[in-house]
Amino acid sequence: TFPESEKKYVLSVDQGTTSTRAMVFDHAGDIVASGQREHQQIFPRAGWVEHDPMEILRNTREVIGLALADADVNRHSLAAAGITNQRETTVVWDKNTGTPVYNAIVWQDTRTQRICDELARGGHDARYKERTGLPLATYFAGPKIRWILDHVEGARKRAEAGDLLFGTTDSWLIWHLTGGVHVTDVTNASRTLLMNIDTLDWNEELAAQMGVPLSMLPEIRSSSEIYGYGQRDSLLIDTPISGILGDQQAASFGQACFTPGQGKNTYGTGNFMLMNTGENIVSSDNGLLTTVAYQLGKQKPVYALEGSIAVTGSLVQWLRDSLQLISSAPEVEAKAKRVEDNGGVYIVPAFSGLFAPHWRPDARGVIAGLTRFATQDHICRAALEAVAYQSAEVVEAMTADSSDDLTELKVDGGMVVNETLMQFQADVLGVDVVRPAVIETTALGAAYAAGLAVNFWQSVDEVSANWVEDRRWQPRIDQSERARLLRRWKKAVTRTFNWLD
Ligand code: G3P
Repeated sequence: TFPESEKKYVLSVDQGTTSTRAMVFDHAGDIVASGQREHQQIFPRAGWVEHDPMEILRNTREVIGLALADADVNRHSLAAAGITNQRETTVVWDKNTGTPVYNAIVWQDTRTQRICDELARGGHDARYKERTGLPLATYFAGPKIRWILDHVEGARKRAEAGDLLFGTTDSWLIWHLTGGVHVTDVTNASRTLLMNIDTLDWNEELAAQMGVPLSMLPEIRSSSEIYGYGQRDSLLIDTPISGILGDQQAASFGQACFTPGQGKNTYGTGNFMLMNTGENIVSSDNGLLTTVAYQLGKQKPVYALEGSIAVTGSLVQWLRDSLQLISSAPEVEAKAKRVEDNGGVYIVPAFSGLFAPHWRPDARGVIAGLTRFATQDHICRAALEAVAYQSAEVVEAMTADSSDDLTELKVDGGMVVNETLMQFQADVLGVDVVRPAVIETTALGAAYAAGLAVNFWQSVDEVSANWVEDRRWQPRIDQSERARLLRRWKKAVTRTFNWLD
């Protein structure tokens, strides 16, 4: 047990793509308080997605306040605070003023395609994959930094003079909350196309080629150690900030995926499946990323294979906000349930091209198989099925890369309350889908990382013991039906290709 008995909780900030949340967890890993604020999604042009870093900072301060006010919690009862974040989203700010030089360029943004094509010329894409574990794609942070330095007047000069700093939103927030500590963790750094996946250092040659001065980059630290303490204006005065994990790695940590072969799938804005590969750096032949799962203090890093899907939950948002087919997200399930099947309709939401396992920047979304028979309900059903089919393709890639068969899939994230989706997921995978009692595993994972650094939790075994199964869905269709469904889906996927010709 933790020596200072009044330190009963750990706070975690989850700075996600659509909102920022703060959650307070007790020693059993249960949520005792929380606060949440959405921020604006800025779409200046087709394919561009931005956030306002100042709004995110304001929201973070606000949600910390909300969480602390929500229950009998104050900073004196906090043992530590952790941060988890949307990964790859890029902020560049002036270290003298703390002001961003441009909006944050979000992970979904595709404006850097030309930069990526240029960098890839002469076969260099193979070099990036070998050194960083990543394909050269618009998804990652490095090319976004380059874009800002190329397009914001005077930015390159200021960067070269050492006045500008880069960070994903973990670094941006910690810099402000601590009063100037410029750090990130190995999981976030592994998403930049600039970090050596084996030594966990910045690669000077790749940074030079990308046109990113090393002085802008944060110090790469482990996922669980004290980075600094909260400043007066952060509401976390003197609280150790001692955990950082990219949100998908945090979800995997919160799901207690500590053993090689264990994996999880998170249903958020996009879907992200991670499978722990232990100390092995496994290079994928099937469109998966090699990434760092976590590193605890001075211990050896643990790696993972990842299947990243750009659009899942945001497809439901699009049905709600852009098509206005539904007035709230849960309505998608109500409508989908009104029909027996998809009526032959398939939606492939290639809004940012297609990520794993295809990596096709030239793809754009399609709705295929339309007839006069199709209704709103079929479209809603097809949207839910698209989430499950995309995940099934990623599982196929994981199985091919790891040669182990998946025995069950742990799930988490907002969409796992959708029973129709979970059942369909089990059907198309042919394995059980398992939901834990706490589905906010992202925030929980960052809390665990922070708490482990200050001995609030003693070991990952203690964390594993907190994991409790809540619900299980078993497949209800046979292999031939499954194969038929997936064949049709794959045909629909091919319809998205070569759109930009
Ligand atoms: O890589 C992008 C991912 O970190 C975003 O996650 O849950 O904010 O959509 P989420």
